[in-house]
Amino acid sequence: MNPVSAIYPGSFDPVTNGHMDLIERAAKLFKHLVVAVLHNTEKAPLFTLPERLEMLREVSSALPNVEVDSFEGLLTDYARRRQAKVLLRGIRAVSDYEYELQMAMMNRRLEPDLETVFLVPAVAYSFVSSRLVREIARLGGPVSGLVPPTVERRLRAKGAY
Ligand code: PNS
Repeated sequence: MNPVSAIYPGSFDPVTNGHMDLIERAAKLFKHLVVAVLHNTEKAPLFTLPERLEMLREVSSALPNVEVDSFEGLLTDYARRRQAKVLLRGIRAVSDYEYELQMAMMNRRLEPDLETVFLVPAVAYSFVSSRLVREIARLGGPVSGLVPPTVERRLRAKGAY
């Protein structure tokens, strides 16, 4: 297995334009980027794991150094298996910082050689989250411009939009 440079982990339920903005920025910075979707058996997501992977693969197909994968269990164990040295996370606002700092510190305790790198999305996406997208779609509001067109179509197909 080739060593990877950076891992961008998340739930991606669903991928938003904010995530895409970060993926595009990171693809320019790192030789190889793995977008790693959490397979969380405790939480019931709107989109199944195969659906989330398919959407991410579709929207990142033009980026040759981006790979989409899934993981279960501890992120630090997955990062070790993939020989990644960097964890990438996005920070939209100060409110994200506390949780992200806590995770970064905990991940450092679990794997001291793994560095968390934070990127900031374009200001146009600073308020976009998967949770709000799901809620707006569920209540029949418009999500165009917040998610890639394929995600919008799938939200509609699910009857969530
Ligand atoms: O998109 P999200 O939901 O904010 O992503 C959170 C994620 C997947 C990065 C986080 O929940 C995670 O890493 N989960 C895997 C389990 C784990 O390693 N937990 C300890 C984190 S310090």
